[in-house]
Amino acid sequence: MTERAYGDGDASFLAAGGVKGIQRLVEDFYDVMSTRDYAKVIREMHPDDLTVSIDKLARFLCGWMGGPKRYREKYGGIAIPPAHKHLPIHEAEKQAWLVCMQEALERQPYPEAFKDYLIEQLAIPAGRIVVLREKIEHINE
Ligand code: HEM
Repeated sequence: MTERAYGDGDASFLAAGGVKGIQRLVEDFYDVMSTRDYAKVIREMHPDDLTVSIDKLARFLCGWMGGPKRYREKYGGIAIPPAHKHLPIHEAEKQAWLVCMQEALERQPYPEAFKDYLIEQLAIPAGRIVVLREKIEHINE
């Protein structure tokens, strides 16, 4: 049997350890964000209690990786760039978010190739958040 590419069907969802594996990843992600100086600015954009933030990101990532659409089941539809348009996210904040994710990924028992793949893929919506923010600021100038 040939191995499926990570973007194919639910291959990423399974490589990430399904619902439980993704929950662990997101808990580690927010643990990193809460303990690193470089992430202070983005941590402060979140509520003190991260329970809902963790639930939302974990559920979103399940569907985003080709697994069950758990965000939609509980919270309804979402598009990532507009969901962040009220937040001052520029290149530095995007990098901080991605480095938190990189550190969280290093704690997971995933194949290195999958970690590299996920960071590359997450950089795409992260970049779109910054592009939308810059457009909004340009209009408001
Ligand atoms: C570019 C850097 C990013 C920063 C600084 C950032 C920051 C935030 C913040 C502050 C919130 C609000 C949390 C709350 O009020 O509970 C949020 C919500 C959320 N973020 Fe991000 N985020 C980033 C990128 C991403 C990416 C790349 C994804 C998905 C691949 C994502 C998925 C989500 C989801 C699903 C929510 C919940 C939205 C809602 O239900 O309203 N974020 N993010």
